Amino acid sequence: MSDDSITQSVVERYASAARNGEQVCTPDGYDMEFLATYIPESVLQIANGCGVPVGLGTVRPGETVLDVGCGGGIDCFEASRFTGKDGHVIGVDMTDEMLEIARNSSAAVATNLGYTQSNVEFRKGRAEKLPVEDQTVDLIISNCVVNLAPDKQRVFQEMYRALKIGGRFTISDIVADTSIPNYLLNDRERWGACLSGALYTRDYLHTIRATGFVGVHQIGVGPWGVIDGVHFSALTMTGYKVSVPPSRPSNEERFAGYAVLKGPFKWVIDEYDQTFVRGVWRSIDRKTSDLLHLDPFRPWFLFSKDVVAGKMLKEDDPNLLRILPEDTPCVWKGLFATMTSLFERAEDDDHHLFEGGVPIEICSKTNDVLTTPQYAPFFHILNRAQQPVSGEAVTCSPNGDCC
Ligand SMILES: C[S@@+](CC[C@H](N)C(=O)[O-])C[C@H]1O[C@@H](n2cnc3c(N)ncnc32)[C@H](O)[C@@H]1O
Repeated sequence: MSDDSITQSVVERYASAARNGEQVCTPDGYDMEFLATYIPESVLQIANGCGVPVGLGTVRPGETVLDVGCGGGIDCFEASRFTGKDGHVIGVDMTDEMLEIARNSSAAVATNLGYTQSNVEFRKGRAEKLPVEDQTVDLIISNCVVNLAPDKQRVFQEMYRALKIGGRFTISDIVADTSIPNYLLNDRERWGACLSGALYTRDYLHTIRATGFVGVHQIGVGPWGVIDGVHFSALTMTGYKVSVPPSRPSNEERFAGYAVLKGPFKWVIDEYDQTFVRGVWRSIDRKTSDLLHLDPFRPWFLFSKDVVAGKMLKEDDPNLLRILPEDTPCVWKGLFATMTSLFERAEDDDHHLFEGGVPIEICSKTNDVLTTPQYAPFFHILNRAQQPVSGEAVTCSPNGDCC
């Protein structure tokens, strides 16, 4: 299928959904009863998301928010509620029938929110060529749309262009635990159902980071469906656009102090390809300091201006986070762990090497480790077994390590 033919069939699919008041996908996580108190039913019945990107405390008062692929506008109206009347919300969609329902509802929503006029506007356009000025948006949201675009790299480049420096995105989308096979890639019906265009999580993360976004991390994930052994998940991610360092950095930009990884990983490689070993101080430049001071990194690092390069935290330093598996046999249950947050690569204390977006098989002992509050934010764990498993306990390593 050509890109144009995919786009045409996606428009037809969602035009028909708008005309018939149909949900192609059933979003999870909205409080529909509450939303019905201020959003018209015509909008709610065509909600077609796969997450709740605005319901996650992501929208701040007064912000300019852009919803890419807004459909009937459900998330735009929620964003409008969170920004308050002084904020501004722009919804972009390529399907006229969706935009019509959204536009017809905005006055009623504004009245219900007590605003003298609506702060939401809807623009027709493509995610690949957003009708928005450069660097004018604080927050981009998008709900189950990027998978429908044939050129995802272009979509993320456009999002990056539209965001201000310091801006961020929160996107819910469908991803897969492997590359989509050709017979699904050429299945028109399943493109429209948000499946065929889903990227392998590894490629999804890579595409976002290659655009320039950093601090890319998971803020929600859940199962979506399985086709012929390909597992689809609904993933909500956030990432940031930070200032690009000059090509000839000044001394001040080259050195911004020291940082040390507290854990829980033994070592990590960050999005600038730099290694941090747990407990070992290293110097950092300005761009790394800016990165590591972003909220999602803060629990995992300590900072210092004193000269501590190469020095180590003491073994009993209470800041160190180290989580070892129980010394018990392993049970293989079909579980696979995918690292989705913050780091490109990392190793735990049990010889597991994690690469962003790539599932690796884990046993029950490792599952217990990765589901602790310290590790859980970094992982998506999924059961790939399609048959019942016998679940026999095994001891794979003489020293009690995992297999
Ligand atoms: C699955 S629906 C989600 C709609 C809305 N975000 C929601 O949560 O209800 C996908 C929407 O994205 C729009 N869309 C898909 N691909 C697009 C693209 N490349 N550019 C602009 N809009 C697109 C469709 O027209 C449709 O309204």
